[in-house]
Amino acid sequence: MSTLLERVKAAGLPQHVAVIMDGNGRWARARRLPRTVGHEAGARAAERLVRFVGERLGIQYITLFAFSAENWARPKAEVDFLLTLLDRFIAEHLQEFVDSGVRLRVVGDPAALPKSMQKTIARAIDTTRRGEKLDLTIALSYGGRQDIVRACRRILADVAEGRMTLQDVDEDAMARRLDTVGTPDPDLVIRTSGERRVSNFLLWQSAYSELYFTDTLWPDFSPADLVLAIDDFQKRERRFGAVREEAG
Ligand code: IPE
Ligand code: IPE
Ligand code: MG
Repeated sequence: MSTLLERVKAAGLPQHVAVIMDGNGRWARARRLPRTVGHEAGARAAERLVRFVGERLGIQYITLFAFSAENWARPKAEVDFLLTLLDRFIAEHLQEFVDSGVRLRVVGDPAALPKSMQKTIARAIDTTRRGEKLDLTIALSYGGRQDIVRACRRILADVAEGRMTLQDVDEDAMARRLDTVGTPDPDLVIRTSGERRVSNFLLWQSAYSELYFTDTLWPDFSPADLVLAIDDFQKRERRFGAVREEAG
């Protein structure tokens, strides 16, 4: 991997990579284990990836889709397990985040989360706010449509209360009211486990993202797999609707 790693680093890294971490349940089922064991293995894969990005790769922004607004529809026992696991993940890595310069952000609807978890999140965001090496965003109780609706409500409130006019409503005004404010749009969105859909992830923000799908199940997704995804990304031509200038 190290030669490919050096090559992708030299070729210009994406600024922001977002990951739909899918396939924990199938990973567990293949081993005749309960889904919860798959989620634990998934948390270890996330830990491994964040360390690798911060210590060896050097991408500035990474977003991990950990729990969707639609995942509330799962059995209560699985929801409770996932939220406890995520709460612990944040709390247990807090010191490591501070020491390694990770700044944590959370996107999604925090009000839907248990109060104790809201506290863990608020503390982690505050404690890591000076981190400059890696901006890690965790999407928790997140849905792209819900994010857009929240932004619309903020705009309507600003218009109703006279802080802006209808003429001020443009793409930039929307972007500044999304949960992801301050984070550039993802250049690359990766989804594991063979599913080829977006599942209400960063809908507005991924308008021009490159999409990368791999059959690898999330708990098996390694730093080497991330390097392969970036290598693939670097071979693509991003046109943003324009045409490439032909020589001659
Ligand atoms: C991803 O794995 C984790 C979450 C969505 C929270 P899944 O739990 O969706 O695993 P599969 O898709 O059932 O294999
Ligand atoms: C998407 O995975 C959400 C997360 C990875 C957190 P799901 O497993 O929930 O997506 P669907 O239901 O297969 O679309
Ligand atoms: Mg899934």
